[in-house]
Amino acid sequence: MKIRAAVLEEFGQPLNVQEVDLAKPAEGEVLVRLEACGVCHTDLYTASGADPSGYAPTVLGHEGAGVVEAIGENVADVKPGDHVVTLFSPQCRECIHCVDPRTNLCLAIRDQQNKGYLPDGTARLSRDGEPIRHFMGTSTFAEYTVMPQIALARIDPQAPLDRACLFACGLSTGLGAAMFTARVEPGSTCVVFGAGMVGLGAVAGARLQGAERIICVDLSSDRLALATGQGATETLIGGESTVERLLEMTDGFGADYTFEATGNVKVMRQAVESARMGWGLATMCGVAGKGETLDIVPRFLITGRRVAGSSFGGVKGRDQVPQLVDRYMAGDIDVDAFLSHRIALDEVNKGFDLMHHQDGIRSVIDLS
Ligand SMILES: NC(=O)c1ccc[n+]([C@@H]2O[C@H](COP(=O)([O-])OP(=O)(O)OC[C@H]3O[C@@H](n4cnc5c(N)ncnc54)[C@H](O)[C@@H]3O)[C@@H](O)[C@H]2O)c1
Ligand SMILES: [Zn+2]
Ligand SMILES: [Zn+2]
Repeated sequence: MKIRAAVLEEFGQPLNVQEVDLAKPAEGEVLVRLEACGVCHTDLYTASGADPSGYAPTVLGHEGAGVVEAIGENVADVKPGDHVVTLFSPQCRECIHCVDPRTNLCLAIRDQQNKGYLPDGTARLSRDGEPIRHFMGTSTFAEYTVMPQIALARIDPQAPLDRACLFACGLSTGLGAAMFTARVEPGSTCVVFGAGMVGLGAVAGARLQGAERIICVDLSSDRLALATGQGATETLIGGESTVERLLEMTDGFGADYTFEATGNVKVMRQAVESARMGWGLATMCGVAGKGETLDIVPRFLITGRRVAGSSFGGVKGRDQVPQLVDRYMAGDIDVDAFLSHRIALDEVNKGFDLMHHQDGIRSVIDLS
């Protein structure tokens, strides 16, 4: 079939919205009619050429939600009409990682996905007979996509898809960092660095876990106001002396849990140093630049601090994204506050510009 999609032709150039071909779903695959897709930093990162593992041409987009249109052979978990959130982090439920509660990093289709292909090593997207690769296994800056069933989370059909799409990446990453990676305990003190989509999600996740104090640090007072709306009890403008300030605010000890959601390695170091001696856990969510390293004075570790990393918030997508959406539907998470701009597929480059200027938390492409 012919579909409209936003193609990255060349790194550093604007995306080109055009007609491309999409083949039928093969065995284990599903055709999804996309209704909404958030614009995330990872799309911009790849489009810019900064991502060393990037490839082109490809259809970008990974924060998608839509409706199942058709299924290939041997698809039992979704059926036409189901509402789904796309998962760049799939869950096969069979590999050694999927059966272990300690990780969400499914191994089933990793190699082909990283190369931009569906699990059988081929692409369903093409143009004039030439294959176009599938970005992050999702390619959701498009009217339709074909994805493996293990990469689709079936959600409550009542959930508005323009909100549900945010659970495909940024929001679940933040929520999950607090709920599944760090497993914040009730009554604890948390610090969240960064009040973008991921950091605000971590603030909400810490609140849902029953944290008593949630201190959010950002450079923008507008964003800190949003953090307060998500449950931050205190806010702080970040800078060189942030660690000292945080220690003062916590009787000299630091926080039980810290979360880094900026992608800045200096802030990651602050997250380690403001975690409490004895048991403080610093969780890194941000993606650092190529070649950058995190500096840690080993004494911080010997005296009981721990460091964790979190990909997609440790969320096992097919099991837990629907649960997070249910919490939203139950009124526990204010998702509306994150949806800053609604744009058309043709305006996808405007979505990048808005992100570049830190205008709003998320632009959502309306594909309905
Ligand atoms: N681990 C994952 O699976 C995953 C998923 C999605 C995004 N990410 C990464 O998470 C990070 C955050 O994503 P986002 O969409 O929320 O980004 P964002 O740019 O919207 O938010 C980052 C925030 O950090 C703040 N900030 C910058 N420097 C700071 C400093 N020195 N001190 C305090 N705050 C500072 C900015 O003001 C901004 O509000 C990015 O690096 C992104 O690539 C990771
Ligand atoms: Zn798996
Ligand atoms: Zn993302």
